[in-house]
Amino acid sequence: MVIFGTRPEAVKMAPIIHELAKSAQLTSYIVSTGQHKEMLNQVLSEFGLSNKVHENLALMKPGQRLSTLSSSAIEKIDDVVSRIRPDFVLVQGDTTTAFIAALVSFYEKIPVGHIEAGLRTRDIYSPFPEEINRQSISNIASLHFAPTELSANNLKAEGKINNVFITGNTVVDALYTVLQKPDSKIVVDYRERLRTRSRTEDTKMILLTAHRRENFGEPLRHIFSAVDTLLRGHLDVIIIYPIHLNPEVSKAAKAFFGEKDFKNIQKGRRISQSNMSHLDRLLIVPPVEHTELVALIQSSYFVLTDSGGIQEEAITLGKPVLVLRDTTERPEGVQAGASRLVGHSTNTIVQAAHELLTQEQVYANMSNARQLFGDGRSAEKIVKIVENFLTARDNSGCKRNCD
Ligand code: UD1
Repeated sequence: MVIFGTRPEAVKMAPIIHELAKSAQLTSYIVSTGQHKEMLNQVLSEFGLSNKVHENLALMKPGQRLSTLSSSAIEKIDDVVSRIRPDFVLVQGDTTTAFIAALVSFYEKIPVGHIEAGLRTRDIYSPFPEEINRQSISNIASLHFAPTELSANNLKAEGKINNVFITGNTVVDALYTVLQKPDSKIVVDYRERLRTRSRTEDTKMILLTAHRRENFGEPLRHIFSAVDTLLRGHLDVIIIYPIHLNPEVSKAAKAFFGEKDFKNIQKGRRISQSNMSHLDRLLIVPPVEHTELVALIQSSYFVLTDSGGIQEEAITLGKPVLVLRDTTERPEGVQAGASRLVGHSTNTIVQAAHELLTQEQVYANMSNARQLFGDGRSAEKIVKIVENFLTARDNSGCKRNCD
């Protein structure tokens, strides 16, 4: 059984679902918790999975609290797991869906495989609540699919010596599939809209994404203030911000830019008809499809983000990343010099962005494409390991967790 529920999980599970379909040994049962709704549907259709989902548990409620989400997830996932009784459950990453699915499987003594295991900050409040979700899944899982050597070492340091496999991250598999597709029309359209507002020939596009719970409130305000300063100080800069559907994010944006300007920015209207405003070079757009996001990364000069997956994608594509967080569970990028942790202080963000925009050497050092997170064949490796695990179990006459 494959269980996922948010947009990034769907992106990273898609290559696994396609690989499972090729397996002669395994039959898969696909469950979406529907923790995300609109954003998930986009990804499912992009990867041809819309009609492959056996059950959708429709967990999303607007502005839902973590405890409410978790309690309805326990109930609904328990219903499907105890009814279908799979031999093995695969979860991905660090979301509420992944953690609760692992917990429910544990209660049913069904072995769990954890994709993207071993990422750590060791700070339980950053990323919140994902660090604890991820650590808890590691305590439950029978198979740990670590994307990198560093994440495998994190698990070994916690005493998980057996069944830790370095497989790369399936995000790279998914990325390579969409790279084969041509640039989407919408991206070209967004770029054109902003280019006409720019006062220079040679515009530099910055892609901004910010949605994490630990950045709600003040931190988001500081991030928007950095955006404001950058646009005022660099006339060649255009910024595109696909905004996450969590209402907390748009609330913060409205509070900073003001209700009226926020609406104009969102609709692509000029702030004022009589004179150009620096905010005319900012476009806030609804969440874009994954293919479009990849195209946006590809055509950006660099990326400002608090997302985990975008760090992996941008670094793989050779785009410098300024990480809008104090910690990252993906330190590989920072160690390789491809990303920088800039937190959410306005000055630090502006300073780091200014260096990238004005110092060629700084930019060149950060923009080498690197295969830090895998070679695009992670799903193949993961499915093979699951096949071997289940064959070994069958041969030993053991169906459940019999260690
Ligand atoms: C979740 C994950 C986070 C991941 C992120 C990716 C948890 C605890 N967090 O955070 O690890 O980085 O997804 O996006 O699992 N909403 C919609 N439509 C959608 C999706 C969300 O309206 O398609 C709104 C709803 O009001 C929902 C709120 O966003 O209640 C928050 O969604 P939730 O899944 O709880 O958290 P995310 O911030 O998306």
